[in-house]
Amino acid sequence: MNPTTTQTPSPKVRYTEEILASLAEEPPRLPSKYFYDATGSRLFDAICALPEYYLTRTETGILERDAKAMAAAIGPHCELLEYGSGSSTKTTLLLDALVKPARYIPIDVSRAHLHDAAQRIHARYPDLSVEPLCADFAGEIVLPSEAAGTRVAYFPGSTLGNLTDAGARGLLERMTRTLGPGGLLLIGVDLVKPESVLVPAYDDAAGVTAAFNRNLLVHLQSLVDLQVNPTAFEHRAIWNADEHRMEMWLEASSDQVLELAGQRFAIPRGKRILTEFSHKYTPERLLDLAAGFDPVARWSDPQGWFLVQLLRVRG
Ligand code: TRP
Repeated sequence: MNPTTTQTPSPKVRYTEEILASLAEEPPRLPSKYFYDATGSRLFDAICALPEYYLTRTETGILERDAKAMAAAIGPHCELLEYGSGSSTKTTLLLDALVKPARYIPIDVSRAHLHDAAQRIHARYPDLSVEPLCADFAGEIVLPSEAAGTRVAYFPGSTLGNLTDAGARGLLERMTRTLGPGGLLLIGVDLVKPESVLVPAYDDAAGVTAAFNRNLLVHLQSLVDLQVNPTAFEHRAIWNADEHRMEMWLEASSDQVLELAGQRFAIPRGKRILTEFSHKYTPERLLDLAAGFDPVARWSDPQGWFLVQLLRVRG
């Protein structure tokens, strides 16, 4: 296994500026990419196993049933890039089905998570070349070397939905450049469904999602010396029908003041900080966002709750 490649190391000053700018917005926001410290990653794995969180189970079910068909549509000897590799559990279902994959490049912003995932994949597929890339896909992805086969980006978990529509368009556009003409994208997105199913998925009875949301504050305390009392914030999960998205907020349960780099942000009781979006799509809406791609094939579950779509870069 090759050593982790680093792109644009992000100094604490840049984090601080980014967080100051987010807090200064109205409503105030916090950047969601900092959810995933060690605790956040562990809590997220716990979310994925919750009875209310249907996403992981449904997407995994689609892979268990259709990975062979996906592999047939992709073809042999591909180079698999995984965007936001996380714990790579779904990836093994895909790798098991793919015919002689040439190389696996997990891409993740969390170095620790990336390293663990790469180790696990390497142990399971000793003949597969694994080249982890520590990078933030909010920026341009520069791949380590020449393609080892047809480039296929795998982007599961409805992570696309965590971006704004403009952000999603931008990422999909950058993917067309990273993949090149003829390159493939296998993307998993969550579909619009009744609010009675959506809200519990982001506000579970055991309070794991609430702990995950609050942990963002804990992580930021250590990342940038943010002064905040995480226990003074309540988790709120709200379905925004107009924007077809779930919204995660942290609501002050008493008057709070956040302090960072000498700047103070008053958050009176009842005021909320926006921490995450999770957009829900229709198949048509996804194709509209993925303007540089042509649809190849798609797979869904019997209830039509989740979509795995294969796309090809036009050109
Ligand atoms: N991609 C996941 C999703 O949108 C991320 C996620 C799950 C999440 N639960 C969350 C993000 C709770 C913030 C808060 O479903």
